[in-house]
Amino acid sequence: QSTSPMVVVANRLPFVLKKNEATGLFERKQSAGGLVTAVAPVVVETGGLWVGWSGLHLEGKEVVIPEADPSDKSPTAGLKSEQVIPVNIESQLFDDYYNGQCNATFWPLFHSMPDRAVFNEDKWKAYRKVNEEFARLTVVAVKKLTERNPEQVPLVWLQDYHLLLAANSIRAACDEQGLRVKIAFFLHIPFPSWDIMRLFPWDDELLQGILGCDSIGFHIEDYCLNFIDCCQRRLGCRVDREQMLVEHNSFTVGVHPLPISIPYERFCQMAMAAPQVVKNNEKMQIILGVDRLDYTKGLTHRIKAFEHLLEKYPEHKENVTFLQIAVPSRTDVKEYQELKENLDQMIGRINGRFSTPNWSPIRYIYGCISHDQLAAFYRDSSVALVTPLRDGMNLVAKEYVACQTGDPGVLVLSPFAGAGNSMLEALQVNPFETNDFSDTIHRALTMPKDEKELRMRQLQRRERERDVEFWLQSFLKSVDCLKDDPAKKG
Ligand code: UDP
Ligand code: G6P
Repeated sequence: QSTSPMVVVANRLPFVLKKNEATGLFERKQSAGGLVTAVAPVVVETGGLWVGWSGLHLEGKEVVIPEADPSDKSPTAGLKSEQVIPVNIESQLFDDYYNGQCNATFWPLFHSMPDRAVFNEDKWKAYRKVNEEFARLTVVAVKKLTERNPEQVPLVWLQDYHLLLAANSIRAACDEQGLRVKIAFFLHIPFPSWDIMRLFPWDDELLQGILGCDSIGFHIEDYCLNFIDCCQRRLGCRVDREQMLVEHNSFTVGVHPLPISIPYERFCQMAMAAPQVVKNNEKMQIILGVDRLDYTKGLTHRIKAFEHLLEKYPEHKENVTFLQIAVPSRTDVKEYQELKENLDQMIGRINGRFSTPNWSPIRYIYGCISHDQLAAFYRDSSVALVTPLRDGMNLVAKEYVACQTGDPGVLVLSPFAGAGNSMLEALQVNPFETNDFSDTIHRALTMPKDEKELRMRQLQRRERERDVEFWLQSFLKSVDCLKDDPAKKG
């Protein structure tokens, strides 16, 4: 456990506020995504504070956070309203920052898809401004924790690509107000190589922003080394790749590979408790996909491979159903709208082509499913396809493994997900290689029970040990190594 009280700062709160039209009151609705799944339980357990956007734009009005509904079973139900500091940003500015800079530039760039990235100075200016506002409210949180316990140095933990510029402003304001603070950062997406990062016109400012932290975490070593490389080549920093250190403004910043994970036992318990939701047996095997509807997830490549499977291995017709859950995501961004249209068309065409009176090959849910229901989907599926074109880690792969509490299924995993680095007993597949992809799905569907068990038990052993608690402890260790050095300035 942390000796320091913690302020988590993320673009999103772990829930969004939605107005209940019948009562006129705002209610909490769980947010989806790997960040929330991993970090929310940490804040609940440590009694920390969370600074983030509530999903509302109440121009000029104060956002009042309601307590969780008593029936709320989500991991964030334990987060009291006094632990939440909402960020309320005027909608046009927020749009430029979130849809513009974050999701139309950084998301594709950091996922090494520069052709999709838009570079626009106005969006970058909006991003700077919004980071300032997050920084201002973070200092309010630091002050609150310092008043509560003046002996302890609050730890600020900045999350993800939305807040790359906040650290230096937080430090400057804390220095001015005589507040002590430690600042750590964790990136939930990949960090690209130098030849990609250098395409961003303000890359020097961005790197300096990140280096304002005391400690920087990425999922895997490759991302750490990419970051170190960028600091050396763009800023001329002295670096030590063995120790993963970067020297900047005469301070040394630690860079740490910290593979994020899931609350393993919780998923296991949910899988054991959940009633059956899909029919999966020798006659009808379920192949499952669970993703935000995002072009990095390789959904069209996956559907193409499934279509090819039905062509190449017709014995699976009427015996296999592909169930894809796609969570609506960033629906104001053009690329996401186009992907949705593409998917709708592809699925319609394939179902039209192969369906029989009693069977449709693809079932498609466009919506967000709760974790306890997801646990049943995971448990009852013979095969999970986790085949992104690029992904920071991918928690769905880990959740699937945790939920194999009965006859185990088979995980098919892309090496381009961070999870592919360690989940070596999964069947690996390159999602761009359609023919091999179909063969791998066939192999998964026909794999002997012994082999399935062997692979799954090894995957489970590793994931059970390296769960989200392990991730948190590794993070805290990496931060505790730091001295609270009052001389450090941004
Ligand atoms: N998720 C969810 N409901 C859904 C689909 C997904 O709660 O209907 C959750 C899923 O359980 C996982 C997270 O969203 O914890 C997705 O995380 P991942 O790392 O796989 O991808 P990301 O969305 O962060 O890119
Ligand atoms: C990924 C990102 C998170 C983000 C989540 C959902 O997990 O790393 O920062 O919260 O996707 O995306 P959204 O844009 O809806 O917050």
